[in-house]
Amino acid sequence: MRAIQIASLDGPQAATLVDISEPAAEDGMVLVEVHAAGVAFPDALQSRGLYQYKPEMPYTPGAEVAGVVRSAPEGAGVVAGDRVAGLTMLCGAMAEVVALHPERVFKLPDSVSFQAGAGLLFNDLTMHFALRTRGRLQAGETVLVHGAAGGIGTSTLRLAPAFGAARTIAVVSSDAKADVARAAGASDVVLADGFKDAVKELTGGRGVDIVVDPVGGDRVTDSLRCLAPAGRLLVVGFTAGDIPSIKVNRLLLNNVDAVGVGWGAWTMTHPGYLREQWDELEPLLADGRVAAPQPVVYPLERAADAIASLEDRTARGKVVVAVR
Ligand SMILES: NC(=O)c1ccc[n+]([C@@H]2O[C@H](COP(=O)([O-])OP(=O)(O)OC[C@H]3O[C@@H](n4cnc5c(N)ncnc54)[C@H](OP(=O)(O)O)[C@@H]3O)[C@@H](O)[C@H]2O)c1
Repeated sequence: MRAIQIASLDGPQAATLVDISEPAAEDGMVLVEVHAAGVAFPDALQSRGLYQYKPEMPYTPGAEVAGVVRSAPEGAGVVAGDRVAGLTMLCGAMAEVVALHPERVFKLPDSVSFQAGAGLLFNDLTMHFALRTRGRLQAGETVLVHGAAGGIGTSTLRLAPAFGAARTIAVVSSDAKADVARAAGASDVVLADGFKDAVKELTGGRGVDIVVDPVGGDRVTDSLRCLAPAGRLLVVGFTAGDIPSIKVNRLLLNNVDAVGVGWGAWTMTHPGYLREQWDELEPLLADGRVAAPQPVVYPLERAADAIASLEDRTARGKVVVAVR
């Protein structure tokens, strides 16, 4: 089968199209014929050996797919011919066939295309966990999100209103990315430069209830200053590169929380949690209360450029690779 392989930790451009053997139909696994695979920031980090999970070399990148079931064991919840989305957790997706654990395969609503379906599980389930389980989002609250035109960012903007947020404020680095955030549903968009003052003005000095931070770096102190009393800073990732420190007196002074969000680790210790998440998300996608992602699509032979677009910050919204 055609697949992308990375054989040296030299960054996204090491991702090469090769011919390798299809995975065998191992006992208990669901075989999926992949139509599209999602690209996420960990793919860029892994290609340089900078992610916490380090696959054996050579490896095929990609954490999520959408496609059609070729075969499934009894009781898997899906059968041959079903349209599905699935998680590889955390590599192997950019290939024509993947073998997935049944608990990581979910039937796609008919209204969701393969390309949109390949771009929703990784970020949407992370943000479901972040906003509902860790962030305790309440109806009527305001959510600010950094990196708002990225994968996690656009997922936050699509999901937060369906979970009760009354307002979303998107923080982006350019006017072009502001358009992406608006298209994903942002109520307001502000530039990263000077975001604290812009947010104070937009909220009449009150601040926001939740800050979603996939960026890290030097934004964290101003993010804490943007929180209303009882607000929560959700620590999701560090695309800026630096892992910031928090002076805990800031938490005490304003009665705010800094909350870690590690979705992958949570799913490992909470069997059945992925299924519970999907059971909440699927009806929202099926009836349009949550719009499907509108990904930027690269052909499989340009997977290296697709991954590089996240590393060099040129990606707009979710990025997906078309596999067939
Ligand atoms: N905790 C979890 O469970 C979990 C799950 C999934 C993903 N994540 C993490 O979430 C983060 C975001 O992932 P993603 O897939 O949304 O990435 P993405 O699509 O590339 O978006 C990241 C955004 O970060 C901003 N950014 C700021 N400085 C950057 C820099 N130096 N390089 C690149 N981007 C920079 C960019 O927005 P501007 O240019 O507008 O600033 C960009 O749009 C990653 O760190 C990922 O590992 C965490």
